[in-house]
Amino acid sequence: THDQLAELITTHLREIPDFPEKGILFRDITPLLADGEAFGQLIDLLAARYRGKVDAIAGLESRGFVLAAPLAIKLGVGMLTIRKGGKLPGPVIGVDYDLEYGSARMEIRPDSVRENDRVLIIDDVLATGGTAKAAIELVERSGASVTAVCVLMELLALKGRDQLSAYEVDAFVSF
Ligand code: PRP
Ligand code: MG
Repeated sequence: THDQLAELITTHLREIPDFPEKGILFRDITPLLADGEAFGQLIDLLAARYRGKVDAIAGLESRGFVLAAPLAIKLGVGMLTIRKGGKLPGPVIGVDYDLEYGSARMEIRPDSVRENDRVLIIDDVLATGGTAKAAIELVERSGASVTAVCVLMELLALKGRDQLSAYEVDAFVSF
């Protein structure tokens, strides 16, 4: 499955130089999403990998939502939305973290989480790992446990995995 996922992602990726800023090569998964057959295969392969191992899927706003929702349905489990600061109605808990320039915040509604659930966190790309690390903290503070962090792509130079060393991090394509 790992190789099939890698092939599927690589062949449907679009690379845009200098977006959103000069010097950044943006890796865009929208061609994969736009191809109904490929998107379906992606979700089927992910479902095969995690079936029976997780009780909920946590999607990270925004690009993680697109993956989390169909995967949750396919696995017959619920979806948790971990959102950018200020978007969820309360009561919420939040984690602030540093970006290269400035800071960011992710939030969850802890009452959306069932105690002791095994949660899969999913997103499109792991860069510095700040977003994923914040998500792990939010899931755990809500009383559940994190089974794995799943990303389609990993940017090795940013060493995001180093921040998540206590967790299983599944990435199918590395750059
Ligand atoms: C991107 C990407 C990941 C995150 C990875 O999201 O989709 O969620 O950055 O970066 P990190 O590992 O350095 O935290 P972005 O904040 O650009 O927002 P979007 O998903 O709403 O496009
Ligand atoms: Mg994102």
